[in-house]
Amino acid sequence: MCGIIGHVGDDDAIETLLTGLENLEYRGYDSAGVAVQNGSGIAIEKRSGEVEELKDSVEEGSLKGHVGIGHTRWSTHGPPTDENAHPHTDETTDVAVVHNGIIENYAELKEWLKERGCEFTSDTDTEVIPHLIQYYLDEGLESETAFREAIDDLEGSYAVTAMVSDEHVLYAARKGSPLVVGIEDDEFFLASDVPAFLEYTDSVVFLEDGDVVIVDESGIECTDLDGNPVRREPETVDWDPEQAGKGEFDHFMLKEIHEQPTSLAQALEGRIDPERGRIRLEGFGPGSFEDVDSVQLIACGTSYHAALYGAFTLRQADVEATALLANEYSVSAPPVDENTLVIAVTQSGETADTLNALREAAADGARTLAVTNVVGSTAAREADDAVFIRAGPEIGVAATKTFSSQVVMLTLLAQRITADRHGQPAADLESLLPELSHAPGAIETVLEGTDAPDIADRYEDSRSYFFIGRGLGYPVALEGALKFKEITYEHAEGFASGELKHGPLALVTPETPVFAVFVGEEDEKTLKNAEEAQTRGAPVIAVCPDDHRAVDVADAHLSIPDTEPELAGLLANVQLQLVSYYAADNLGRPIDKPRNLAKSVTVE
Ligand code: G6P
Repeated sequence: MCGIIGHVGDDDAIETLLTGLENLEYRGYDSAGVAVQNGSGIAIEKRSGEVEELKDSVEEGSLKGHVGIGHTRWSTHGPPTDENAHPHTDETTDVAVVHNGIIENYAELKEWLKERGCEFTSDTDTEVIPHLIQYYLDEGLESETAFREAIDDLEGSYAVTAMVSDEHVLYAARKGSPLVVGIEDDEFFLASDVPAFLEYTDSVVFLEDGDVVIVDESGIECTDLDGNPVRREPETVDWDPEQAGKGEFDHFMLKEIHEQPTSLAQALEGRIDPERGRIRLEGFGPGSFEDVDSVQLIACGTSYHAALYGAFTLRQADVEATALLANEYSVSAPPVDENTLVIAVTQSGETADTLNALREAAADGARTLAVTNVVGSTAAREADDAVFIRAGPEIGVAATKTFSSQVVMLTLLAQRITADRHGQPAADLESLLPELSHAPGAIETVLEGTDAPDIADRYEDSRSYFFIGRGLGYPVALEGALKFKEITYEHAEGFASGELKHGPLALVTPETPVFAVFVGEEDEKTLKNAEEAQTRGAPVIAVCPDDHRAVDVADAHLSIPDTEPELAGLLANVQLQLVSYYAADNLGRPIDKPRNLAKSVTVE
């Protein structure tokens, strides 16, 4: 969704704001803008297009000042035009506002303000906020009180940052959309997410829903909406700014694919003891899960595919488990009670659909757990417990390394839950854990020997791309197709291999390559399904170990090391990530920022 940045300090705000916006572009890149206090009011530059284009416009202008706000937009209300770009102001440009979220009652507020003479210049819901603040200022209220009154009028979700002409102060509030404060001596940053200011500071205050924060050169003051002080201690985040850069790679996505050996090793560190066959999850002593009767995993997008993988592993470990799309949860949630563990699987910890499902499950009495990458995220704070996947910052909109770490964490959790319930793990940990500890090396092998660039070239001119798999290969097929379509813009679909003959086979032609994922479970059946497609002319690309029978049958092969089924899917997925990447690269797509998408979607 949209990205917010704010800066207060002695340094030039513009550079910090533009760097922050570039770092936040994964949250939206339809349009961008900045506003600074330039000594004689508020100066603004905003436009449709990416931050790069905004930078060019800013260089031509002369925006200067120490205090400012910026925004990169993922459109919800109104198309990505110059007018709809943030910051938004009142008519006098005395108040400037950036916002992430949805103001549900904006139509009523707009009408009310129009009746009082306000003129609007954009289609956005956001524009009501500066007008409201100005209305209260005109009523004679101090800026801080005017801001609080305006926020109090809003219904919906928001992270808002505002400034009032000639004041060296930022006013910010959050409810349902993320907002963090970065502190470096007497420099202060407000942002939607930590990578925005990671090159300046690692000291972060994570704001919570209902917080209002006033930032000026002397420091930050956190209060609730009524002005009562709330205590928010700074935390040190252990993300390295290097991790947030592209390094030697052309795209963040390729860098993040290549980071998987390291990110997986981090996820596993201290958590498995292969020699003794033990799993240790910090914060979860023996017996922590003994009362769990069933598990629901809720998630969206790639995280949903990891959730499907997790549910499958749990069921194989004799635990009743279902993966559910978070955005469908409110209409179709199965019953829960205190023995139901509801796991929110969310890289960002901020996905609105997932948070709402999590809240609903908690309200209905379920025990909740967040499996997330972001310490301090809303999911981590709101769930009863959290397990961190330790993947490091992921910037590419298409999730890659976080999927692998989610899958591994859910695999560990499945064994812990079943061990707590039944007194022993379901799998033979003495063989699973050593395989897990070798997973980073196995991914390295895949990365070094991959034929993905050749496969991408060979099938470049196809009409559609199909992905099939069975068991743990099924979520991998779905994820392979999702990755492919989101970054190549080509049509791709994932199917359970056995379903191909129940409809999708009608689509199969010589122009529809079929990627068949073999994970060592009922592979004969998957091979038969792949051959059914091949008989109709479709080229089959087998994703499997070198000595697999499918290699002789298939038209092409993507090799994975031989391993346990729990991990084979993970390795196959890395090959499919690479195929998508190289196919998108051949087509010249903007791989890290695919059209119409955003990394973190904080609206329903
Ligand atoms: C967006 C992103 C996807 C991501 C999904 C869930 O749609 O584009 O890549 O998988 O959100 O995100 P989460 O942060 O909850 O894992």
